[in-house]
Amino acid sequence: MNKNTASRMAELTINGKTHLMPILEGTEGCKAIDISNLLRDTGCITLDSGFKNTGSCASSITYLDGDKGIFRYRGYDIEDLAENCVFIEVAYLLLHGKLPNAEELDNFKMLLEGFALVHEDMIHFFDHFPSNASPMSILSVMVNTLCNFYIEMGDDPLTNIDITAARLISKIRTIAAFSYKKSLGQPLVYPRQDLCYCGNFLNMMFHKPVRNYEVRPELVSTLNKLLILHADHEQNCSTSTVRLVGSAGVNLYASISAAISALWGPLHGGANEAVIDMLEGIYADDSNFEKYIRKAKDRSDPFKLSGFGHRVYKTFDPRGKIIKKACDDILLSLNVSDPLLDIARELEEIVLKDDYFIERHLYPNVDFYSGIIYRAIGIPANMFTVMFAMGRLPGWISQWKEMREDPGTKIGRPRQLYIGEPRREFVPLAERP
Ligand code: CMC
Repeated sequence: MNKNTASRMAELTINGKTHLMPILEGTEGCKAIDISNLLRDTGCITLDSGFKNTGSCASSITYLDGDKGIFRYRGYDIEDLAENCVFIEVAYLLLHGKLPNAEELDNFKMLLEGFALVHEDMIHFFDHFPSNASPMSILSVMVNTLCNFYIEMGDDPLTNIDITAARLISKIRTIAAFSYKKSLGQPLVYPRQDLCYCGNFLNMMFHKPVRNYEVRPELVSTLNKLLILHADHEQNCSTSTVRLVGSAGVNLYASISAAISALWGPLHGGANEAVIDMLEGIYADDSNFEKYIRKAKDRSDPFKLSGFGHRVYKTFDPRGKIIKKACDDILLSLNVSDPLLDIARELEEIVLKDDYFIERHLYPNVDFYSGIIYRAIGIPANMFTVMFAMGRLPGWISQWKEMREDPGTKIGRPRQLYIGEPRREFVPLAERP
């Protein structure tokens, strides 16, 4: 972004002296005040806990309007992409900035198929985790260690980025499924070339030597939709982690491993698992909604209603709307009735009528209904956030790539307002009281 082309300036007056700062304009009416010279010119930094008002980069990947509930990848509405694309088509869009034509999509598919196995030496690592190890921890470790087995990135981080991206996108589902199989003590199921991206994942998760797994098209289509909805979401906590860690010059695998750890948190991707825990709690408590709503409103209680609220959306999360419909469709098609879905619907209805939640613009987010779909597919709760990570991977990679391609990128290094002790005299150990 060229700062010299800013046509308008913001004025900041400190102690009677006015400082001018360029107002930068993006597309869709987005505006940002460029404060990069503020410290030099005024001696002040900005303080913005949780970065509620702070932009860390200019990006052309994802556009969100949290007031209107708009969400687009590379200019395309999420509703259109979720309805008409498969996940790897959207992964290509995020990575390359354009939707693939049929030939490009075929080539991308073949590239992914070629990378589906993980190095056999890595498979021994799975044996050394305890059987109750968190799949998110395993995923983060395994993705990090990929850099030891696949060193094609060399010294130049952008050399072979397309190859590394394809390796990661292909292998993450193999690693995820292997960690699940290991936790059950079942033999690993290797990827098959005749299955699509999502079908392959389901087969690796659920096929057993004693019983063939039937890859049902409606499950494949639902999984594609879920992964598409998770594929990017601009500068959220884990994506900012990818950029921050990557800005230090570390390789893509290590940056993604750090993002997986960030995603694990219950305020971020871990919310999908927390939602199910919460719904199960309400169910076991004889649908005592009142108790949970009271706890959520109590400021002295850290409990929050998982699956509600969002930093950016102050209206319905557009992903939540699509997921809710997908949830209804898949349960109907599988002829499954899940009591947790009834609890979820009732909770949503209560929340949407409650002043506390209305005043704070708290609506169901992407994590509220996704867990119920995963349950219907047969995916256990401790794998839900792994599913989120699989979906978010193309976004993380695209954001990392965009950052590294930008010649203006600098190492991420926020400042602080120091509030500790002023200078004091050192006291030798023997003289300390
Ligand atoms: N339940 C009850 N109160 C809430 C909730 C909730 N789920 N979310 C926000 N609030 C209240 C919060 O206590 C605060 O009240 P007050 O103004 O009285 O202090 C007000 O709403 C504003 O909330 P905030 O914590 O300042 O908002 P934030 O932007 O910092 O946090 C959030 C956003 C998503 C972390 C938060 O809404 C939350 O913790 N939600 C539950 C966890 C969740 O579902 N996370 C998934 C988010 S979407 C997917 C993803 O990012 O991975």
